[in-house]
Amino acid sequence: MNFADSKRLKNLLEKNGWTITYKMDEASVIFAIGCSVRKHAENKVFSFIDGCKNIKGKGRVVGLLGCTANIYNKSIFKNHPHVDIVCGNNYFNLLPEKIESAFKGEKIILTGEKEDPFISGTYCDNNISVDIPITKGCENFCSYCIVPYARGRLQSRYPDDIINEIKNLSDSGVKYVTLLGQNVNEYGNDLNIQYGFADLLKDISKIDGILRISFMTSHPRDTTDKVLNFMAENEKIMKYLHIPVQSGSNKILKMMNRKYTREEYMTLIKKARTLIPDISISSDIMVGFPGETEKDFLETYNLIEEICYDKLYIFKYSQRPFTKSADLPEPVSEDEKEKRHEMILTLQKKISGEISNRYINKHTKVLVEKLNKNGSLEGKNINNKTVDFNGGNDLIGKIVNVKIEKYCRGCYFGILQK
Ligand code: 5AD
Ligand code: SF4
Repeated sequence: MNFADSKRLKNLLEKNGWTITYKMDEASVIFAIGCSVRKHAENKVFSFIDGCKNIKGKGRVVGLLGCTANIYNKSIFKNHPHVDIVCGNNYFNLLPEKIESAFKGEKIILTGEKEDPFISGTYCDNNISVDIPITKGCENFCSYCIVPYARGRLQSRYPDDIINEIKNLSDSGVKYVTLLGQNVNEYGNDLNIQYGFADLLKDISKIDGILRISFMTSHPRDTTDKVLNFMAENEKIMKYLHIPVQSGSNKILKMMNRKYTREEYMTLIKKARTLIPDISISSDIMVGFPGETEKDFLETYNLIEEICYDKLYIFKYSQRPFTKSADLPEPVSEDEKEKRHEMILTLQKKISGEISNRYINKHTKVLVEKLNKNGSLEGKNINNKTVDFNGGNDLIGKIVNVKIEKYCRGCYFGILQK
């Protein structure tokens, strides 16, 4: 989501006559988009901002943007006095005009919720694949999560707004859209219309030029049969589900306020695999939630062994401001979190290696997205696997047949089939 926000900001600034540089000493304005979901990411953005102090000099403007701006607000000026602009995700559209005031010495603060946070038509980065936010914020209040405070409550974009944007993108050459939301299955619940995520998927799949559609994130409690059935029957929908379980222990799931049990999650995965036999599945795992015992952890470990995910994102619990779990007793030590993190990492490496063997010497259909710096082509297959192979530029934007030869560090390498 932050990545999509940063692309949107880049396009917005370019439209307003700014040139983007990634060299700090060349820049007259320096923006950092902070993520506060985990403490580690937040530390990184604050240390970047503090690093700007020395090069700020006369006439340079420094801004801290994104959800970190919404959480810390004015206190950023107090603790980091060299910052000129504090701007949350909902107000990026006002930045181009406010930069001028910041140059004159005004401190700019733009945070909080807004009625219409979406700026259409500004997400296009390259002309093959585009991320499209369909909702903002979240209503779920998982006990560890800062998102409802940092990005506000659920706000869905109107269907026409999304569909028109995708039609325009398709006219300009876009072939592949990824629909983004903290919980895509809640799409439309706040709009007072009888139209949900499955309806949106159906309507987008009718747009001729769009060849592939994917989405993330799916909340296990809200993933419906309607969506799974449509994934199974429509060949444009990627056979890929990112469906975070977080923990395999019912005790911890309850404390996390996830509103499903281990058994319900397992049933859902079985159903998805029955309906879509070749589906690839990924998940987020959190280790070291307060009160997570060795037994709870082993339940998570077993669940991963049982499910065999294609990919895992593994996080060590960190305490976040405003969240319910911040007050819970029985913290898990950093050493223990590290140990559990490492154990799951090793397990997943083994599983990913085994899964990759299934693709070796097999043919797969790849939507070609771009030319790499080394001259090879890169794209994804229907299971969201990245595939690298040699071929001509004219294949960009097309679906081609590739024979997979090997797998290395999350990427498949293959040979184009004529
Ligand atoms: N500590 C560690 N990980 C977290 N996540 C969200 N909040 C926290 C936290 N306080 C992880 C969850 C979520 C992913 C986006 O980030 O696993 O699914
Ligand atoms: Fe956070 Fe839970 Fe919402 Fe995901 S579903 S963004 S973890 S509150």
